[in-house]
Amino acid sequence: MLGKRILLIVGGGISAYKIPQLIRSIRAQGASVTPVLTAAGAQFTTPMTLSVLAGEPVHDTLWDRNSEAEIGHIQLSRNADLVVVAPATADMMARIAQGLANDLASTLLLATDKRVLIAPAMNVRMWDHPATRRNLATLRGDGILTVGPDSGDMACGEYGPGRMAEPDAIIAAIRDALTPEAQPLSGRHVIVTSGPTHEPIDPVRYIANRSSGVQGAAIAAALRDLGARVSFVTGPAAVPPPAGVDVIAVETARQMRDAVGAALPADAAVMAAAVADWHVVGASDSKIKKDGSGRPPALDMAENPDILAWISRAEERPALVVGFAAETDDVIANATAKRLRKGCDWIVANDVSPATGIMGGTENAVTLIGEHGAEEWPRMGKDAVAARLADRIAAHLNGKTT
Ligand code: C5P
Repeated sequence: MLGKRILLIVGGGISAYKIPQLIRSIRAQGASVTPVLTAAGAQFTTPMTLSVLAGEPVHDTLWDRNSEAEIGHIQLSRNADLVVVAPATADMMARIAQGLANDLASTLLLATDKRVLIAPAMNVRMWDHPATRRNLATLRGDGILTVGPDSGDMACGEYGPGRMAEPDAIIAAIRDALTPEAQPLSGRHVIVTSGPTHEPIDPVRYIANRSSGVQGAAIAAALRDLGARVSFVTGPAAVPPPAGVDVIAVETARQMRDAVGAALPADAAVMAAAVADWHVVGASDSKIKKDGSGRPPALDMAENPDILAWISRAEERPALVVGFAAETDDVIANATAKRLRKGCDWIVANDVSPATGIMGGTENAVTLIGEHGAEEWPRMGKDAVAARLADRIAAHLNGKTT
């Protein structure tokens, strides 16, 4: 942490009483602290305390003409190596998730080009509220790092998660955030395909499938969080791509194959896209009209390139190729056969029968099939499946598993 600059935004929560200790610890590690105090934060700790301990003036308003002239708020957030928000209240999390910029803290957070680490702190019911869960998912999707909260007795008399992480834990998280090279996938390049493909019939119609792209986006985000450079080749998905990945948006299977080819070489490829099996040969350049005969047009179809099978046998084959198998019956037998047929290393198999609610849903129940057989994972959120898969990929590439 030696010589690093931390921009520390102090929000309004009772745990702000731990912030003076945090500032002392950060400085003891050789880093500098520029404190920013919100109006609510000033109810719990004083500008004087923060500036004396930081050895720097406190910034607390957007409208200070002198400080804007000396160092504009954009500069303030860019001069830092890392932005830390502690305590990050429910209100602060909501405002960052929304992208609001109506005070100094929120403006700095929107303007920064640096990593942001938040230490949430709030009442347990506020932490558990669906709105906060949603905001947390948005923030994580945007690449914001979190530390805590801890569980325990709260100042409000309740018990549960919501206490701000202790200064030591925040320091450890700051150290990790400042040294991404320590992450298990740093320096690695992973290609992820995601979403459906659209195969045009004419300029206004296409053949598609019900893939939402949720699982693929979650996998790209999880790999990014472990430090990988991710090339995210996505068809027209229902969800936006995660922040912090290289997005290559495509429409058809043939475009997807070309984009995957252009992204090589890579250490690993995760083919989570639901690629259409066929395209329409000679899609019409103008809208096909009913011709009055009562007969529908005959669509001439041809098979699409199988991107997974192709990359598995490509000259520049990544060291690890992972495919998906969405099956409705005999999941394990079909997926095991698919692994061999496609030539990939692992298959993530899932049962997409309508009764499971998996296609388009938020949960997934998968079986990981590799050289050594099938491993059934419990039903969990698609984010959790992604995190577990990313961990396995990191362990494999780092030689910790076969
Ligand atoms: O053959 P099937 O579509 O069931 O195989 C699924 C796996 O193959 C997925 O990993 C999918 O991304 C990949 N695939 C592909 N190109 C295709 C068809 C499937 O990469 N044309």
